[in-house]
Amino acid sequence: MTKKIIVANWKIYVNSRKQAETLLKSLKNKNYKNIELIICPPFPYLIKAKSYQTLSAGRQVKVKIGAQNVFYEQLGHYTGEISPKILKDLGVEYVIIGHSERRAMGETDEIINKKVKIAFSEKLKIILCVGENLTTRQKGLKTVQNFIKNQLQKNLNGLLNAKGQRSNVIIAYEPIWAIGTGKFDTTEDAAQIINFIKKFLNTKPHTLNPKILYGGSVNSKNIASILKYKEIDGTLVGKASTNKEEFNKILKIANKIYLT
Ligand code: PGA
Repeated sequence: MTKKIIVANWKIYVNSRKQAETLLKSLKNKNYKNIELIICPPFPYLIKAKSYQTLSAGRQVKVKIGAQNVFYEQLGHYTGEISPKILKDLGVEYVIIGHSERRAMGETDEIINKKVKIAFSEKLKIILCVGENLTTRQKGLKTVQNFIKNQLQKNLNGLLNAKGQRSNVIIAYEPIWAIGTGKFDTTEDAAQIINFIKKFLNTKPHTLNPKILYGGSVNSKNIASILKYKEIDGTLVGKASTNKEEFNKILKIANKIYLT
């Protein structure tokens, strides 16, 4: 079995350096060597997470660092934005793009595509979030599949058709109605949709063998039922990743699944 990927998306649930430090420290010297752990703090805490990474190098848990967002220009008059170059300069490896919470704030498929392209050209690893709302889900799985295919085509436009370098993109399938709501998708359905995404991306030379994660109200009680599907490569965890006891429970379970 390959290692499962766990992405911790802190959003702004973590809102002090002290809290960030406590969470990072709680991961120290834990024997989670069977998972790939990617921590995505708010921008101001990226450096703290990065310094922790250096500290923990050579120990059992290797943390990778991701940003929760990026802008689609590298330089210029864009007050308040963060460019891919700035992220690279900080040593950030991953970036979440297209999270539904950002889409809800007005980020369009076109904007997301611009972000994907520039992040790719800067060699940031992309975690692209896709997922349907409740109305779409209620129309059945076929409608959901078409919706997601459309999102992937628009968001990865240019990459899907590009020749040459592989994109290394990770997809997080996150049904919008399951994010931050405590409502959890039935894993059968999630696995089926994830299979569909894999098949679709596998037809494109640029995105062969993609890693696909599930996200939306993941916690220590449901993680085992998600990760038991071999087609689900990991999870994106929001709120539950900001509680040290709960998150360590999640990691412990994910780490064990690799061995079974
Ligand atoms: P949640 O968030 O785990 O709090 O539902 C998931 C996400 O960030 O998409």
